Amino acid sequence: MSESFQAEPTQKAGFTRRRFIIGGVGVSAVAAIGGTTVRAPRVFASTAPSGPPTTTIPLPTTTEPEQLLLTWGGDPATEVTVSWSAPGTVAQPAPTLAFSTQPITAHHAGWLVKMPDPRPLDVTERYGEAASVSFTDGLNGQTTYFYHVQLKGLKPGTRYYYQVSDGAHAPSTAGASFATAPHGRAKFRFSSYGDLATPSWDLNTSGNIWHESCDNSWFAVTAIENPGDGKGAPLFHLLNGDLCYANLDVNNAPGVWRDFGNNVARSAANRPWMPALGNHECEFGVDAMSGKPGDASGGIGAQGAAGNYWNGPYGFGHYLSRFLLPDNGVTNWDGNRLRGNFYAFQVGTVKFISLDADDVIYQDGAANYVIGTANTAPEKTTTGAEIPNGTTTYTRFYTGGLKLDAKHNSLVPDYASGKPNLQTIWLERTLAEARRDPSVDMIVVFMHQCAMSTSVPGNGSDLGIRQAWLPLFDQYEVDLVLSGHEHDYERSYPVRGYDAGSHGTVAAPNPGQTKGAAVDTRRPSVVTTEAYEFDGTPAWNTAEGTVYLVLGGGGTNGPTNTYGTDTADDKPQAKVITTRNAVVGTEAAGFSKNGADSIEDAPWSAAINPTDAYGYSIFDVDPGQHRGETTITFQYFAIPAVTNEAGAAHDGTTTLPSVPTEKFVFGRRVGK
Ligand SMILES: [Fe+2]
Ligand SMILES: [Fe+2]
Repeated sequence: MSESFQAEPTQKAGFTRRRFIIGGVGVSAVAAIGGTTVRAPRVFASTAPSGPPTTTIPLPTTTEPEQLLLTWGGDPATEVTVSWSAPGTVAQPAPTLAFSTQPITAHHAGWLVKMPDPRPLDVTERYGEAASVSFTDGLNGQTTYFYHVQLKGLKPGTRYYYQVSDGAHAPSTAGASFATAPHGRAKFRFSSYGDLATPSWDLNTSGNIWHESCDNSWFAVTAIENPGDGKGAPLFHLLNGDLCYANLDVNNAPGVWRDFGNNVARSAANRPWMPALGNHECEFGVDAMSGKPGDASGGIGAQGAAGNYWNGPYGFGHYLSRFLLPDNGVTNWDGNRLRGNFYAFQVGTVKFISLDADDVIYQDGAANYVIGTANTAPEKTTTGAEIPNGTTTYTRFYTGGLKLDAKHNSLVPDYASGKPNLQTIWLERTLAEARRDPSVDMIVVFMHQCAMSTSVPGNGSDLGIRQAWLPLFDQYEVDLVLSGHEHDYERSYPVRGYDAGSHGTVAAPNPGQTKGAAVDTRRPSVVTTEAYEFDGTPAWNTAEGTVYLVLGGGGTNGPTNTYGTDTADDKPQAKVITTRNAVVGTEAAGFSKNGADSIEDAPWSAAINPTDAYGYSIFDVDPGQHRGETTITFQYFAIPAVTNEAGAAHDGTTTLPSVPTEKFVFGRRVGK
């Protein structure tokens, strides 16, 4: 493992530089170093289900609170939102929240908040400080209930205890405690990964297996509560999209979300979990894209492949019901408030920005029904909804348009259209304010899809992100960009600007493209391949260039940690999505969907992990003494793959590593 801590070798003329490969080749990093053995409790003694249910599984009609979830309010030092849910399809009779700086007991009731009656999700409305929200799944008709209390005026750096109750005649309660963020320049720890999914059967509350279920999802949550270095749980966690893949279980999305909520609550009841929207948060349903009832007659099957197939606003109905996130203050062109779709918050000297890249990517969303067989029948759901073959979700530009600035191969808000892209406008304003703010040293962006990835079985790099947002990340010197989407690990060198000209080749043409043609992929330009050193640890100066981290190994059952190499010169190569990956075909012939259309040489790829797809990241922020001195020490802990789902190998046990596979320092003064 010692090679993980070496500074990267200096590039010499004539020296064929290879990417830094972390982990031991062919040997699990954990096997090599030992670690902490974790055994999950066994809930079900029965044998595993054979696979995901194909019919709708009823949800409980009990009301005891579960799926406890904390998120930051607008100011993490003083605002925390406490959320929870009823188990199933029955609202809690009289839910309440009690909170205090002392434990809640019979003799110390704390402050009491009584919840209002639930109202269906309506994102055109503003939320009160206490809100009860219901959401009816468009494809299976199940209604589930979420409760949110936005606590404000809390004391910074203070532990609060809370207890929620269903208010039943014989009430059921649940509770935990959390710490508010420290005020001002302070040390803190945060963690991150994306693509968590759900555990398998006997580790799920429901006992079911869902699409993408894997026990690593359970272990990943365990790891956040007890990171391998033994230095304690983080203050909060960043969850970089593809939360639970509920859109793959069209008859049971509420049930998948419930198992996700209960798995995550093992950590999220104790510390805020801050999500970003991914492609698997976008679900089929029966609404117009805005979330209004679909207006085509004859049901979903009559609405046509370009019709109304969304589960709530933009397909994000479950997500927006479940998470009440910091308010960006932006109202979309369709009248929806975009609260929670993208947002920012500050802890200590770091500004965090969560983006929804679904808005700018060329690739499609992840609710798809695309079958290559002729005359394939529509996918039918419990409610009688039918999804015709050839249907795919595509939400690009849902907050308004971007237009090409050909000179810079960039995408800028299209003001001439009258509906410019609101997320990009908000991003630029937020970045500009952060860089003007003397209390902000570093900016960390997290989102789901990747501007840079060399994964071969994964999705690849999306030119849409490069065109729309990388110019802003460059201009405002964003320090770190975290993503998921690829179920693996990858780290870039610091990059700034792009290598102008054609640096890609069309390999799998979309309609309108020619195989073998050159394509300008707006390839990010490497600033340096030589790390500095900070207290004996390799360090990158992020004032010189932004570092991109792919952290998509949360737990999903679909590793993609095979990485592209140009066989001609043995150098890194990436797939790039440069045009919409259109669905092509006909009802009579069947349909297919293209993947990434192009490839590029990828000198920006600094480190990959072919050994372990799974892992979690720990970031320790130290503000230093003066403005600009903040450093972030990053540790990546790989988690070995487990044999999931069924059979004797599914024993609910893993070994979590105690030594990181990578350790780096990021800062704006390092090396200076
Ligand atoms: Fe994913
Ligand atoms: Fe994804």
